[in-house]
Amino acid sequence: MDKVVDFIHVNRERYVEELKALLAIPSVSALPAHKPDVARCAEWCATEMRRIGLDQVRLVETPGNPVVRGDWLGAPEAPTILFYGHYDVQPVDPLNLWESPPFEATIRDGEIYARGAADDKGQVFMHFKAIEAHLKQHGRLPVNMKIVLEGEEEVGSEHLDDFVRAHKDDLRADVVVISDSAMFARGVPSICYGLRGLVYCQIDLRGSAGDMHSGSFGGAVANPAFVLAQMIAQMKDRGGRIKIPGFYDDVRELQPEERQAWASLPFNERAYKKEFGIPKLFGESDYTTLERTWARPTLEVNGLLSGFTGEGAKTVLPAVAMAKISMRLVPDQDPDKIAALFQAYVEKLAPKTVELTFTRMHGGKPWMTSYDNPFVQAAGRAIEKGFGRAPVFTREGGSIPVVSTFNQELGLPAVLFGVGLPDENAHAPNEKLDLGNFHNGVVASAYLYDEIGRLPRN
Ligand code: BES
Ligand code: ZN
Repeated sequence: MDKVVDFIHVNRERYVEELKALLAIPSVSALPAHKPDVARCAEWCATEMRRIGLDQVRLVETPGNPVVRGDWLGAPEAPTILFYGHYDVQPVDPLNLWESPPFEATIRDGEIYARGAADDKGQVFMHFKAIEAHLKQHGRLPVNMKIVLEGEEEVGSEHLDDFVRAHKDDLRADVVVISDSAMFARGVPSICYGLRGLVYCQIDLRGSAGDMHSGSFGGAVANPAFVLAQMIAQMKDRGGRIKIPGFYDDVRELQPEERQAWASLPFNERAYKKEFGIPKLFGESDYTTLERTWARPTLEVNGLLSGFTGEGAKTVLPAVAMAKISMRLVPDQDPDKIAALFQAYVEKLAPKTVELTFTRMHGGKPWMTSYDNPFVQAAGRAIEKGFGRAPVFTREGGSIPVVSTFNQELGLPAVLFGVGLPDENAHAPNEKLDLGNFHNGVVASAYLYDEIGRLPRN
């Protein structure tokens, strides 16, 4: 490993220049105008994967964006890692809040700023560099490696489940490795052993054929904005408990050991409020902030639209109102069941004065593993070598739906080793990645392959 680690230290500056080129490609999967950029980004990754020495590098077409595949299978006696990451990114709006252009990576105070820096291009690239270091120094990896890079993660991975099911043999492995999450805090590396699931829906209400004069018609016609607000107000009580009948039926209660372990994590509520500009925290009573975000479900309004929102005043009775609403789920809630419960509740809440259209969008199952599995323990040792400190074990509030697909379809355990930070603005303006964590992450990833290579095949 010394030769590998030396190589990584010597090449530190070059990595940053190469990463800038990857971050310059606006591979925004949510916006059709960026389709060619998404394709270009897939090509960029494939070219880089060939360059670092992976074999059989290819783009696999799907009905959506291509999956980038590549392998290194030269260690038949060792376990096989299925590495998953995504090369698509979130939209950049509001653009005016960016301090430097989102697709011109800029370094300030040891952090690289760009859309995708943390989520997930920087973390995928970290593994590319760890693979490169092994292959350049030894001509081989200590494990077999199968790489799967997706281009639709940020829009719900619509085609990935089918891809996994259609390529079960090709994807046979011993463990999934993913770096698409955050460390617990600066200086506190972590391994994530649980993710929340997701159900995403849109509600459209129509109160009339077109917008109307609010003087001539107001008082005689229901205002869909008002109706929508009243419906949303029925979704949660003032204490943050969700009022959809049956919603909590399958929620697995937190275990006392888990609560105890989390209570000893270095979490400072005051600093958290200050950092994110929150006047007062909110959530279910009887649960701490970490418990609320990691182990309890939630329902959030992601967007609202109705009526006149421009400058000045316009007296209008809007014809339509729209809300995008999502729910984060925890074990053992099932997305299909929750979506059905929610739809029934919304239909019950909607008065006859409006026409309701309910649309279910994407979703995914929650995931949780036990952290005494040997792969997770191996990752712990690798992280300690890369970061000089043993990781803490965390769950996350975010979702990576494919983790549970890999588990169910391929029977694979997963190691989630993220090097982002909670304040790195994923999905927001001024996304960034700490270059020190990136560098330590390359070292830790290189050790991770070494540690997993010493384990027996699954
Ligand atoms: N990298 C995130 C997932 C994540 C976020 C993990 C925070 C750990 C902590 C991923 O790219 C993401 O944003 N996923 C979406 C999934 C959705 C579009 C199905 C999410 O969580 O909203
Ligand atoms: Zn991500």
